[in-house]
Amino acid sequence: MAALLSDADLAAGARLMARLDAFAAFTDEPGRLTRLFLSGAHRRAADAFIGWCGEAGLKARIDAAGNVVARYEGKREGAPALLLGSHIDTVRDAGRYDGNYGALAALAVVEGLRARGERVDHAVEIVAFGDEEGVRFRTTLTGSRALAGTYDEDFLDQKDSSGVVMRDALKAFGGDPDKAGAIRADNAVAFVEAHIEQGPVLEAEGLPLGIVSAINGATRLEVGVDGVAGHAGATPMKLRRDALTAAAEMALAIEARARGEADLVATVGRLEVWPGATNVIPGHVQFSIDLRAPDDLRRAAALGDLTARITAIALARGVRASLAKTHEANAFICDPRIAAGLTKAVESLGVQPRLLPSGAGHDTMIMGRLCPAGMLFVRCKGGISHNPLESIAVEDCALGLAALTRFVRDFRIA
Ligand code: HGY
Ligand code: MN
Ligand code: MN
Repeated sequence: MAALLSDADLAAGARLMARLDAFAAFTDEPGRLTRLFLSGAHRRAADAFIGWCGEAGLKARIDAAGNVVARYEGKREGAPALLLGSHIDTVRDAGRYDGNYGALAALAVVEGLRARGERVDHAVEIVAFGDEEGVRFRTTLTGSRALAGTYDEDFLDQKDSSGVVMRDALKAFGGDPDKAGAIRADNAVAFVEAHIEQGPVLEAEGLPLGIVSAINGATRLEVGVDGVAGHAGATPMKLRRDALTAAAEMALAIEARARGEADLVATVGRLEVWPGATNVIPGHVQFSIDLRAPDDLRRAAALGDLTARITAIALARGVRASLAKTHEANAFICDPRIAAGLTKAVESLGVQPRLLPSGAGHDTMIMGRLCPAGMLFVRCKGGISHNPLESIAVEDCALGLAALTRFVRDFRIA
């Protein structure tokens, strides 16, 4: 099937690519893209997003939880809303399309409607979530949890690595910590997120777009390992209680458990060593675990096994280990009606529709607790993501935007 893109679609895709390039300049770390929740770069990106909304005749604002939100009215003022969006925070040294594509594509859909003087049956509300990656405060999905009505006030007490409390950072950013838990989007009738696939399936099958069937469930933990700091030169090996080598054995055990079961993935993405001096035996290590599976029971069983292994290794090495869960989201099945609407939109562009699961987590899995929710995937080169090499083709960018637009125009409130 040859994709049917009009010149106008292609031009809109090229504009979106250019905007994504401009957006990538908003970073906390010059020379690479790192945009953490409530940081200066997040503020500059939010201001740019608000400015672009203003140029499209939308009054955008920062909501109490630090998201940017804007509303394009439907045929009837005050109509229930179809929400479109994604996140504009990033991981460290990120690619420029993860999250940002869906947030800016949502704005581009509304710009297209407005340019054609089009109003649809429902309002369209666009959301640029501020805290999906959860890098700065180790909470995650707090922006979508606020809109879904599942916000946990404990988030606000989290501190970043320099001791800044989320509550203070949110206030300084223009959010309202006292109201973040009370902004459930009651008028939402559906939520759709366009996002790069972040995996290799679409590219391997020569497809530019995909429709997400389900999103893996995820658990995040912090593990603390307490040994005994000591002199690297004067302490015989058999008398050591080295927190780092214990943590290393734990990390390898975590990897082995995940390798032993199809579709289960586990990652130790961050590991910090104290005191971190060449001539000191590490006394303390803090590391993260990210555990995911399509099936919640299997994820729970794996979590039990990992906890037992970590405890056994700590015992054998004479160190103490503590585990604390920092995030849990059950696997999410995308709404079949939304998936059907996205399938129809993809097919109308002459693209063969492909239903596929998402290994990565997304705000959709939280918004789906509020209203019917679904996702449109756009092919990314080599399936590479969370990496500055992340890239998409301008035609695929245009196809994703055209499919999202067709979905919005055809969407009917059930
Ligand atoms: O971790 C994830 O799956 C997402 O990129 N935050
Ligand atoms: Mn991500
Ligand atoms: Mn993402």
